Amino acid sequence: MIELKHVDKIYGKGEGAVHALKDVSLTIRDGTFTAILGKSGSGKSTLMNIIGGLDSPTSGEVWSAGKLLGKLSKNELAAYRNKTTGFVFQSFYLEPTFTVLDNVAMPLIIAGMKRKEREEKAADILEKLGLGDKIKKRAGELSGGQKQRVSIARALVHGPSLILADEPTGNLDSKNGREVMELLTAVAEEGRSVVLVTHNREDAKCAEDVILLADGVATTRGRILEDEVF
Ligand SMILES: Nc1ncnc2c1ncn2[C@@H]1O[C@H](COP(=O)(O)OP(=O)(O)O)[C@@H](O)[C@H]1O
Ligand SMILES: [Mg+2]
Repeated sequence: MIELKHVDKIYGKGEGAVHALKDVSLTIRDGTFTAILGKSGSGKSTLMNIIGGLDSPTSGEVWSAGKLLGKLSKNELAAYRNKTTGFVFQSFYLEPTFTVLDNVAMPLIIAGMKRKEREEKAADILEKLGLGDKIKKRAGELSGGQKQRVSIARALVHGPSLILADEPTGNLDSKNGREVMELLTAVAEEGRSVVLVTHNREDAKCAEDVILLADGVATTRGRILEDEVF
């Protein structure tokens, strides 16, 4: 479980300061698909970075599996991030000249795994996600939908308990976007926590818990119903 308690994030100081998150308290339940839904500039990426330990709050507390992240040293925080979280971004961040296999195996280098084992693990997850025939292709040769599925494979390869996805369908057409959402839903059904950050209500309907974010203020609610207007 991840818990944020009275989290504020302020960028800069004085006149130009931006109050990006305002007294945010929320819970991410283990093994649950959670969406953070808000317009551009509402603080979604800031919130995701804080949940994932990529950034720290100006004030307030972030608890993950009973650990207070603010109390961890830099190295401990990096180790926590590498072990427990996988990130998926709108623009994929794949290395275009590397093969699909090498892209997916990359987090395992950081984990200190030997080459053969790395390649086996990466191939396994790619097979599982239906990308077995793309293993030897260069990442730059893939379509957008394939690139995002490869980036999800890379986020999963080291077996994290939490997947954080920031606007993962933002660069995809609706068909590929739906496929990516189905994939993330399946990841949550396997028992991992998935946190989706999005401005897209349709995408947020896949989530069991929804956190609405407006001007840095968060409100938690349950699933959005198919025909619901809100
Ligand atoms: N590094 C930064 N320095 C200053 N302001 C920032 C920084 N990152 C984000 N902001 C500001 O914080 C607010 C929230 O941004 P962000 O979290 O990126 O929102 P979203 O992801 O919902 O578009 C915006 O007003 C944005 O301009
Ligand atoms: Mg953003």
